[in-house]
Amino acid sequence: MVNIFKFNLYDNQKICGQSGWKSPSNIALIKYWGKKEIQIPLNASLSFTLANCYTDCIIKYESLKKSGTNCDFKLLFEGKRKVSFEQKLNKFFKRIVDYCPYLLDLKLTIETKNSFPHSSGIASSASAYSALSLCIMDIEKKINPKISSEFFLKKASFLSRLGSGSASRSILGPLAIWGKNDFFKNSSDLYAIKYLDEIHSSFKNIQDTILLVDKGKKHISSTVGHELMNDHSFSSDRLVQVDQNLKLLKKVLRSGDFKAFTNIVELEALTLHAMMMTSNPYYLLIKPNTLNIINEIWNYRKNTNSEVCFTLDAGANIHMLYPKKNFTEIQKFITEKLSKFCENGEFINDHVGNGPNKL
Ligand code: DP6
Repeated sequence: MVNIFKFNLYDNQKICGQSGWKSPSNIALIKYWGKKEIQIPLNASLSFTLANCYTDCIIKYESLKKSGTNCDFKLLFEGKRKVSFEQKLNKFFKRIVDYCPYLLDLKLTIETKNSFPHSSGIASSASAYSALSLCIMDIEKKINPKISSEFFLKKASFLSRLGSGSASRSILGPLAIWGKNDFFKNSSDLYAIKYLDEIHSSFKNIQDTILLVDKGKKHISSTVGHELMNDHSFSSDRLVQVDQNLKLLKKVLRSGDFKAFTNIVELEALTLHAMMMTSNPYYLLIKPNTLNIINEIWNYRKNTNSEVCFTLDAGANIHMLYPKKNFTEIQKFITEKLSKFCENGEFINDHVGNGPNKL
């Protein structure tokens, strides 16, 4: 039990109300891959918080006549009851109930919807758990109005992490770091912190166009992938590499050197997938069209000297990163050369954002 997040003040007061948050997804530049119990990362990670890919979550709550031993909740996803999500949420509520004991005295109706299509291959766990955790913190604030806004966000990130590791970073924008490391003061394995160092203007309005190569569900979940890092032959080397990349990225984000940025970001993306390919059992999430797009981006960069690079999450889709000044040029490149490698020619234009908003 992590004591700072324990809830002591509780006197079982009767409450009812509603809370809503809109929380974005994020894209990691330095990848979280591998974890220990419970949701403690093997390595530190750093991400851009997005703007257009988000989850809207509304919780309606009212006191129960008699408190239960499990959380009493119902989940509506896009207006429809979703029992498969309720099973996942049950596990989440079991993890957080010691920190939020008031949940046992409430009946909750949780309504969520995503801004991006359900079957787009874009993971929704980061936006979903961060939005839900912020709503839960609103309930906590209603019971204890004295909590500071700093504590509110810190605990929201802590709770999000217990749902999905990368969700801890979605609470803060435009950049967030999760995982204890030597380069960022106050970094923690328990929650993410906001990136407070200087950021060069060219990274302040970075665009992320997500090329939807495969809109299907992944055949191996991230949870399984993380587990495979525990006995991975390259695990200790990966930890050394993360430290080097994190230290260098901090310097590069300040200097604005896009070439050096590209090198770190693409190395991280390809290392992530290399870790999957060399796990035992080994597996592949990238598809032939992922490689087709990567090769096109490399050719384009060579021929035009343009500032554009890619990263990948745990799937086949490509995230193209580039400064806003290149938007028109890159959109042309996508329509002419890349959209043919996407399922139904689809892609989503997103950009770095400032984090969640209350609804
Ligand atoms: C490849 O956060 O989805 O996107 O903690 O098991 O829910 P769980 O895993 P998750 O893993 C994300 C991994 C990644 C890299 C990253 O976002 O840092």
